[in-house]
Amino acid sequence: MKRNFVLLCGLLCALVGCTKSANIIEENVANAEVQLSALLAACEEEGQVRIPSTYRDEKLRFVSPRDWTSGFFAGSLWYMYELTRDEKWAEAAQRHTENLHEIQYFTGHHDVGFMIGSSYGNGRKLKHIEGYDTVIVNAAKALCTRYRPDAGVLQSWNVDSGWQSKKGWMCPVIIDNMMNLELLFKASLISGDESFRNVAISHADRILEHHYRPDYSTWHVVDYDPATGAVRGKYTAQGASDDSAWARGQAWSLYGYTMTYRYVRDAKYLQQAENIAKFIFSHPNLPADLVPYWDYNAPNIPNEPRDVSSAAIVASALYELYGHTLNEGYRALADKIVESLSQPAYRAAQGANGGFLLMHSVGSIPHNSNIDVPLNYADYYFLEALVRKSCIELGVPAVVL
Ligand code: GLY
Repeated sequence: MKRNFVLLCGLLCALVGCTKSANIIEENVANAEVQLSALLAACEEEGQVRIPSTYRDEKLRFVSPRDWTSGFFAGSLWYMYELTRDEKWAEAAQRHTENLHEIQYFTGHHDVGFMIGSSYGNGRKLKHIEGYDTVIVNAAKALCTRYRPDAGVLQSWNVDSGWQSKKGWMCPVIIDNMMNLELLFKASLISGDESFRNVAISHADRILEHHYRPDYSTWHVVDYDPATGAVRGKYTAQGASDDSAWARGQAWSLYGYTMTYRYVRDAKYLQQAENIAKFIFSHPNLPADLVPYWDYNAPNIPNEPRDVSSAAIVASALYELYGHTLNEGYRALADKIVESLSQPAYRAAQGANGGFLLMHSVGSIPHNSNIDVPLNYADYYFLEALVRKSCIELGVPAVVL
């Protein structure tokens, strides 16, 4: 692996004279090699294929394939393969991807896009493994069972059980759901069936219409009447208050419209992404290191937890936005976030953090869940940002359809 990575970095430097950048990528990949090897070994003890979600109270925590975060570890393994071209990462990634086989038929919530996209989606891009296309199309069909045609949206959560059943919602749609559209765009390209893409466009347009405030911050939850399409109310589930700007919601929002522009090429989505970026980067509560507090309106800033996962998602989105606009400002902001996340304040020492790369993310403060811990999706989007940064420096497309 080391030889392959040295070759990659040598190529990076020779092509673009980017010694400093190549060093930060090289150094992060060398660190990830150590950390993720330990994490992988722990997940596969005694022949198991367990899915790590976080490391809390000095214990690794695992999730089932049905958890919304189940695809991110497989995805991180694929990104390690992309960054190193060491087959051992591809083999591990394939094991962890295929562990999610049942999810192609899962209709219990909207997150199959995250789950299948980060695992099978990345596997398909890097290895063209037989059967992966079928899984992606099946998962898109499963996601489309949640489409409510009279409202024009994909319902995020069911409302007949769990904490969601206590809210009085009929058809809650959360901003995070923009991320699941990528699965639908991909499924249309694979199958030639435009109906997946049409659902995605309808959803993106309805979110554009109803989820945003005049300053381009987003509500977390908008509840629709699925029979009439009327908006019943706007709320938060994971933010500080209904009218606050929950940090990860803003990150999904930026990434979601940047990605939607990739597939649809309608300037209104690009404009939306740029407006969202303006909101984030002109916010007075955004710290100088660009790692946000868990909510831009959290009540006790600066004595509030940061959310590293939001920073990682934003960095990755900004590299794509740079590709669409060639605005060097976006690339510089992404580089600055990567630099911040590579510091000891956020990146764990080798041997610590249960093998996860980054510390200090927040799952959900209102649910008292995973506060100030590593999270598998923070690592996933950080590695994705490194992949995209490498591609930009090599002069090759950072994202593919
Ligand atoms: N999609 C759930 C979250 O961002 O916490």
